[in-house]
Parts: sequence; structure tokens; C-alpha cells
Amino acid sequence: MCGIIGYIGKHIAKDILLEGLRRMEYRGYDSTGIATWEESRFSLIRSAGPLDALEEKVSREKLFGTAGIGHTRWATHGGVTERNAHPHRSSDGKIILVHNGVVENFAAIREFLCARGYTSSSETDSEVLANLIAYHYAKESHRVQCSRFLESVRRALFHVRGTYGLVVLCADFPTEMVGARSSSPLILGIGKDEYFLASDVAGFVSRTRDVIFLNDNELVHVHGDDFSIISLNREQIKAVRQAVDWDLSTVELNGYKHFMLKEIFDQPNALNNAMRGRFSADGSTAHFGGLQMSPRELRKIDRVIFCGCGTAWCACLEAEYLIERFARIPVEVEYASEFRYRNAPMDRNSLVLVVSQSGETLDTLAAMREAQRKGFRVLAITNGIGSSIAREADGGIYQHAGPEIGVASTKAFTSQLCLAAMLALYLGRLRDLSFEDGVAIAEALRQLPQQVLEVLKLNDHIRRIASRYQHCHDMLFLGRQSMFPIALEGALKLKEVSYIHAEGYASAEMKHGPIALITEECPAFFLACDGITLEKTFSNMHEIRARGAPIIAVVTDDCQIPAALVDDIIAIPRAHPSVQPILAAIPVQLFAYHMGTLRGHNVDKPRNLAKSVTVE
Ligand code: G6P
Repeated sequence: MCGIIGYIGKHIAKDILLEGLRRMEYRGYDSTGIATWEESRFSLIRSAGPLDALEEKVSREKLFGTAGIGHTRWATHGGVTERNAHPHRSSDGKIILVHNGVVENFAAIREFLCARGYTSSSETDSEVLANLIAYHYAKESHRVQCSRFLESVRRALFHVRGTYGLVVLCADFPTEMVGARSSSPLILGIGKDEYFLASDVAGFVSRTRDVIFLNDNELVHVHGDDFSIISLNREQIKAVRQAVDWDLSTVELNGYKHFMLKEIFDQPNALNNAMRGRFSADGSTAHFGGLQMSPRELRKIDRVIFCGCGTAWCACLEAEYLIERFARIPVEVEYASEFRYRNAPMDRNSLVLVVSQSGETLDTLAAMREAQRKGFRVLAITNGIGSSIAREADGGIYQHAGPEIGVASTKAFTSQLCLAAMLALYLGRLRDLSFEDGVAIAEALRQLPQQVLEVLKLNDHIRRIASRYQHCHDMLFLGRQSMFPIALEGALKLKEVSYIHAEGYASAEMKHGPIALITEECPAFFLACDGITLEKTFSNMHEIRARGAPIIAVVTDDCQIPAALVDDIIAIPRAHPSVQPILAAIPVQLFAYHMGTLRGHNVDKPRNLAKSVTVE
């Protein structure tokens, strides 16, 4: 939610900032802005609307500065206007900054500053930060020059309640940059004679892969050709430099029209990466390097609580079906935002598992911290290498799905399902799952990427089906057992990218209410791949058929479905129940993609959404 970037180096900053913002646009795209240092002043250019509008404005200016900051916004405080777009400048003109996060006590700070002559020109909470730093900067005038700027940011942050990733410039020190973070990501990129600060490595990956992930309550000061990191309490921090192994092609479209489609087609690769090196030599179980729990400790677990948000929550629900079925451990699934405040009674042998693609979702992070505060061990499944959740978890499993740029999650979802199946296999083999059953699951997982390729061949068929339903206003997604989470995800995906109202239900629940919605105008999309309940699912289809609604059904290719029962069939390969949901997820992704594009929407940047939500 909001992408920020800062640059100091020897090259023209505006081009680097705009490229970085383009790559981080998924984090927010309501409005954008950059500020660069031009000889003796900051040049500030902002625009409401997408990045194209800013680029157009910037192209009309002569900007040669080699230091600057940029922002792409997902509005929280204040409407989507140019005035509210970042960067924000202090009213005395000394400080300019970009901010990702929320200042909870901004009203009190604003009042304090107002009484001291600092004025605001926007409705944002971020502008008060610029004024607060300027206020401390003025107070620090006795200090030796080199520490004055940094010290003013540090002192200001002591008074801030809330979350922030910040990049700050000061008019008196145009070759310096200060960054700070608390619960919003900030990464330092170290290039050849140049430094970057950004919310995501994607913001500068074309120029350097040498990075430092800042921790909460740390400030970084880039000055001249060097940098230093201190804590809010002024201790020097010895940071660990890391090399990210991203390939630039993973953050580019490479001939695809949208990232969403590229990422749907990248799923065989993402699944292979999730599984690589994680099967035992005898092929009967999985293993994970980072759980930080011995088999003996895991054997003692008698309940697993999964937490996540959005699509990751749907993956948690699938994990419940898989782990209960194959590992026979009771599982509960919680919305992270609810779990955090619910104070659910938990017993000592519960294990908490959080699932988050980005590893930065604040609700999930807060749920994790709450569980840890109570003394529970929390493991994380995340794609966000070096993310807040990855770093604060007691152990976990990296997805290795590569960057996911499309706001609607696709490859990260199936990769989470794959890891849930592997975890079910691993935990099951620590309990009662037999060698033979373990081998069957491991074998099914190995076949999976190839079977996903088969499903992807249905793309044109699914586009044709979508074209017949593109004008509908409502849709039901229905599935039983392990197909139920896929039905929920199908409805979520359709809502996200096509703005069609959709509901996901357990098929049998449909007759307890939603059936009232059924008309010829409300198609039903069935996920009918659960073998055990197939006949019952057919009965549910009859109930809908009798009321005149069209039916689309995803079935396995060996299914004898009466032709008269459905209007459109999508037949996918039959697979082991542990992986069948993964194969069923792909048609719903493709269907949503085509519905969205046929209706003329930018599926990579759906209205009102942001990929990484770092506010509660
Ligand atoms: C946002 C996104 C969703 C995503 C959810 C959880 O709401 O729009 O697509 O599923 O956050 O994100 P996470 O990074 O925690 O998986």
C-alpha cells in the first residue's frame, strides 16, 4: 500500500524514480509524485491518477538533479487529489518526504505544530511528518552539521504513533537521504556510486541486487559515498548485506499483455520452485529447512491455527481440508484481522501458521505478533523474502514463487496450496500417514507442474466461455469439500478484476439462502472435482437448472456428467485429492482474467485495491 523510492547517485534521478515507481505501481495507483533536487531547490511534481499522467508532466520539465524521491499512493487519509499526493514538503521548505503507512496521532501532532506556525496544505497524515521533522530540525540548529538532519528525523519519530516507511530529503543537505521504517517495508539498495531506498526490491532491481532489509525502528543515513544505520535509540546497527537472486525478466511483461496472465502461465515454474529439494530421498515425505521445529516438537502439536487475509486466507482454508485429511490434526482458520482482537483461547500445544504472499500485510503481521506475545510459536508461509513476516516468524517456508506483480494473486495462491499439501504430507508422515499413502501424495505433487500445463492449454476455451457471460451482474461459485475454498477464491478473483458481484458457497449451502438469487441472469460456476461428493453436486446442479440459471462446471476429464446438466464444461486432468484443488484453481483464475479484460478493465491494477495492505 503505497510505494516509496529514494535515489542518490550520479545519474539523473527522475528517470530512475519513474522506472522504480512503474515497478512498484502494484502497491497503489491513485496518485503519484516525485521531487528532485535541482541546483538550489526541490522541484516537486505530483499528479492525481496513474503514473502515465505524472510521466507526461515530468516530460515537460527539465530535471537534471541526481537526488530525489518518489511515491505511488493508495489513499488512506484524504481524497485522491494532487494536493494529497506525495512528496510532502514542510511549510518552511526545509524538509521533503515520501511516506508509506499511517500516522495514528497525526491530528494531535498537527495541532501542536499549527500552534508553532507550521501550516498544512493537504489532508494527509504524512504532511505532518514533514512539518514535525522540520520542527525538530529547527530545534537542532546547535548541532554539528553532519548529524543535524539525521537527528531531527530520529527525534521526530519518537513522537509518532503508527506505521511508516519513510524517505526524507533536506534542503540543506541535498546529497544526503534519510530513511526509516516501522511496520512498513524499506530496503536499501547499494549500487555502484549510487544508493536507493524503496518499499520493494522491484523498485531498483534493474540497477542493483545488493540490498539491506531494514528492521523496524531503524534509520538509515546515506551521506556522500557511504551510509550508516542506527536504531531509534541511536545505537549503531551492523547490517547484513544480501544479494537478491531476482532476474529482471520476472518483473517485466515479457510479451504478455498483463502480469496477471503472465503469472497464471508461470505457475508450473512457481510450483517446481516451491517443491525443489523438499522431498525425502525415499519419496515418501517432504521436508523443510526452515521450520525450526524438530519432528518431536511437531509431533506434540494437537491443533494448528492458520491466519491470513484475502487470497492467502482462502489458501489457509484449503490447508485445513488437506491437513485434517492427511495429517489428522485439527485445524482452525482465522481472518488475521479478527484473530488479532478476538483473544481466542488457545492451549499450549497449538501451532500458529500465518500465510502471506507479500509478508507485509499488517493484519497478518499483527496477528502473528499477538500470538507470539502469548508465547506461541508462529511459522510463516510467505513469498516475501526478507519481509517483516519472514523475519519475525519463528520459522517458516518460503514459497520461491518469484515476484508477483498483478494485484490479484494467482501463482502465489497455487504455490501456497502446494506447500499446504506438502506440509500435510510431512505432518501426516510424522503421525499415521502410511509410507504408501505418502508416496502417492509426493508422486502426485511431482506430476503437478505437467498437469498444470495441460490445464493452461484450456485458455482459449475458457476465454470463449467468458465471452458468453461477460455481461452478467451476479455469479455464484459453488464447490464441496476441498473445492469449497476454490469456489471462494473464484468469487474473490472475479470480484477483484471484473467488478461483477460474486459469492462463493459450499454447494449444499446454496439451498439455504443464496438459491433465492438464482434466475436466468445469475450463472453458477461449479467446481465439481471432488469425487466423493460428486453425485450430491449433480443434485445441486439440478436444483439450479430447475430455476433456469446457466451452469459452468469444472470437472475432471473422467467425469460422466450428464450433458444436459451444464451449459459449459471445463475438463481438467484427474489427480490425487491432495493436488486436485490446485488444478481446479487455474480455470477460475483464467475465467476471472478474461471476464476482466473483456469488460475492458486493467486487471493488473483493479479499482480500489492494493497488493500489499500495510494498514489495518
Ligand atoms: C490484499 C490483496 C489481496 C491479497 C491480500 C493478502 O488485499 O489485494 O490480493 O490476497 O492483500 O496479501 P498477502 O500479501 O498477505 O498474501
